[in-house]
Amino acid sequence: VDLQAYLVARQALIDEALDRALPPASEEPTTIHQAMRYSLFAGGKRLRPILCVAAAEAVGGQIEEAMGPACAVECIHTYSLIHDDLPCMDDDDLRRGRPTCHKVYGEGMAVLAGDALLTAAFEILAGCAGSPRFSAGVLVKELSIAAGSRWLIAGQVLDLENERRVIEVDDVRRVHEAKTAALLVASLRLGAMTADASEEELAALTRFGRALGLAFQIIDDILDVTQSSEVLGKSAGKDVAAGKATYPATLGLEGSREEARRLTDEALAALGIFGERGEMLRQIGTWLLARKY
Ligand code: IPE
Ligand code: IPE
Ligand code: MG
Ligand code: MG
Ligand code: MG
Repeated sequence: VDLQAYLVARQALIDEALDRALPPASEEPTTIHQAMRYSLFAGGKRLRPILCVAAAEAVGGQIEEAMGPACAVECIHTYSLIHDDLPCMDDDDLRRGRPTCHKVYGEGMAVLAGDALLTAAFEILAGCAGSPRFSAGVLVKELSIAAGSRWLIAGQVLDLENERRVIEVDDVRRVHEAKTAALLVASLRLGAMTADASEEELAALTRFGRALGLAFQIIDDILDVTQSSEVLGKSAGKDVAAGKATYPATLGLEGSREEARRLTDEALAALGIFGERGEMLRQIGTWLLARKY
């Protein structure tokens, strides 16, 4: 399979499903629906929904069943980016190649667009059919925990609290596992749950997602140092300027690259039980290590 063609096709499917799942831009109050869609349809990689769908396939499921959770995790991710970019957080002007939500719609509306996407995620997920082993309620709980104050939010809290502090690599790892890896793990597990995955399959996807998610955020940190804003579609060089606790700040660039490679190997090793069906997840893992944006 040609990975680039696969990704483009999946991104299109996910965009169509998101378009159907969210209120149209013409619905009142139009400002909020426009703001939500402005950020959601700005051209993200759709990594989390792609992982969700690929995990469903890895356990023998159908992509249609996984589209609800796929949309839900992308809504959570986009909300987290809108809020992450606010002046009171990372204070960023550029996201997904466009001015950030608050630059266009104002801070109040950007806070609300984030709130609305967060809420929409659970509306979408609660409407999913689930599977024999995993009801919609179980799916909702899985995502609530990953997006809540013990994981995604916890990571964002630590990210802010660690600004301009010298911390150990283990502490940076905890921030990254919480703010980024947890949602990747949940994306994979939710997709697999819609295909009625076994405990063994879920455990393997959890190991894959933890290592992959950490590698993903390490590469995000590396790209912030090495890549241009034009290529990233978001402002480069912000982490050093803000004194963020990052892998390059603790391990250096080469040490960070080495750690990302090691973690990617660890992630791929967790996919053994899926055999041939795990091939897309394998290719996605390899692609993420080499990505340039
Ligand atoms: C950016 O995520 C924020 C991180 C958690 C590193 P992505 O790199 O997946 O951003 P989009 O969705 O492609 O814009
Ligand atoms: C963002 O991490 C993590 C979440 C939004 C949960 P970053 O702050 O490093 O992401 P970018 O670099 O702004 O995309
Ligand atoms: Mg941040
Ligand atoms: Mg940021
Ligand atoms: Mg970053």
